[in-house]
Amino acid sequence: MLLTHASKVEKGPALRSTRVLLGDGLLTSEGAVHLEHRRRLQPAFHRSELLRYVPGMVRQAQACAGSLAPGEPFDLGRTMMQLTLGIVSEALFGADLTADASRIGDALTEALGAFRSLSLPFGGLLLALPLPRARRFRAARAELEAAVASLVARHGGATRDDLLGTLLEAREAGVYDDRAVRDEVMTLVIAGHETTAVALTWAFQLLATHPDVEQALHAELDRVLAGRSPTAEDLEALPVTRGVIGESLRLFPPAWIIGRRVLEPLPLSDGTVLSTGIVAVLCPWVLHRDARFWPDPERVDPGRWTPEARTARHRHAFIGFGAGTRACIGEGFAWNEAMLALATLASRWRFVPARPGPVVPEPSVTLRPRGGLLVRAERRGTPRR
Ligand code: HEM
Repeated sequence: MLLTHASKVEKGPALRSTRVLLGDGLLTSEGAVHLEHRRRLQPAFHRSELLRYVPGMVRQAQACAGSLAPGEPFDLGRTMMQLTLGIVSEALFGADLTADASRIGDALTEALGAFRSLSLPFGGLLLALPLPRARRFRAARAELEAAVASLVARHGGATRDDLLGTLLEAREAGVYDDRAVRDEVMTLVIAGHETTAVALTWAFQLLATHPDVEQALHAELDRVLAGRSPTAEDLEALPVTRGVIGESLRLFPPAWIIGRRVLEPLPLSDGTVLSTGIVAVLCPWVLHRDARFWPDPERVDPGRWTPEARTARHRHAFIGFGAGTRACIGEGFAWNEAMLALATLASRWRFVPARPGPVVPEPSVTLRPRGGLLVRAERRGTPRR
C-alpha cells in the first residue's frame, strides 16, 4: 500500500480532515501538488543541512535542561512540546517561538482534540456550528494562524538561507501564493514538533520503568560526553541513546496509525483484494510488536538499533516514519533532534513518575500519554528515594 501500490491509494479520511487546519501542505496534498512541494522542501532535509541544525538543537535542549528544577511535579510532555517547537521553528524558520510556546502548545492540543470529531461523517459541518467544541477549535486555529503569520512576517525574506526563505522565494517567483506558504509553514510547525515531543516523552517513560536501560544510558553518556554537550560527531558514538529513542518509537509510535483510501482494486500478497473506496489502516503499533520481526517484542532492548541489527531485519519491520513516496520528510531531523535532546537532558536529569498507577497511551491523532506524563525532576547523582 505504501510502496508497490502507492499510486492506487490516497490519504485516508482522518488525515484529510486535518486539512481544515493544515490546508494543502506536504502532509495532506496529493499527486502533482505533493510532488512539487516535496521537491521544493527536500533540500532543507538533506544530510548536510541536518548537521547545520545540530548546534541549535543542542543549545535549546541545554536551555530546557537549565530551566528545570527539582521538586514540583510537571507535565514532561508539555515541556517536550515547548522544546521541539523551539527547535523546529529556529531550524526551519529562523524564529524564536519560546515566548509563545505554551500558548501554541495549548492551541495545538485543542485543535488535535477536535480532529476526532472531524473524522466523523459531517465532521467538517460540526465545526461550523456554534457548539462549544467547535468554538474552541476555531479559536485554537486562529491562534495557530496568528503564530504562523507572525513567523512569516518576522522572517528576513527570500534571501535568508533557511526553509522559509525557500518558500518565500517560491512566492516571489509566483510558484506559491500566500496560502501555499501558510499551509506549508503550518504543516511543518505541527508535523515537525508534536511527534518528536511524544517520542521523547515516551523515551523518558521507558527509562523510568526500565532501570537497567536507564543505567546503560547514563553509563554511555558519562563515558562519551562526560558532562560536555553532544555534537554531530557524537551521534554515531551513542548507540544506547539511539536505541532508547528507537525503542520508544517502536513501542509507542507517535504516528500509531497510517490510513489510506483505496482508489482502484488493490491486491495483497495473500490473494485478498482491497476494493475501491475501502479505507485501509496500517498500524505501526501492531507491526512493531510482531514477534516474526521483533523477537520477544515487549522487551525494551536498545540493542535492536545498532547498524548490524537494523541491516539484519526486514527493511520495513519498522514503519514509525511511514514508507515510500509519502514517508516522513523529517525522519533524519527527528532522529538527530530526539537523540541530542535525550543526551542533553539525561546527562543532567532523571524524571521520576509523580502520579501513581500505569501510564496509558491515548490513541488520538498521535499517541500521547493519557492526561500527560507527570514527573518530578531529579538531578543526576542524587540518591533515589
Ligand atoms: C518522531 C518524530 C516523527 C514521527 C514519528 C513522524 C511520523 C511521520 C509519518 C508516519 C509520516 C507518514 C504519514 C503517512 O504516510 O500518512 C510522516 C510524514 C511527514 N512528516 Fe513526520 N514524523 C516525525 C517528525 C517529523 C519532523 C521533525 C518533521 C519536519 C520537520 C516532519 C514532517 C513531516 C511531513 C511534512 C510529512 C509528510 C511527508 C509527505 O507526505 O511527503 N515529521 N511523519
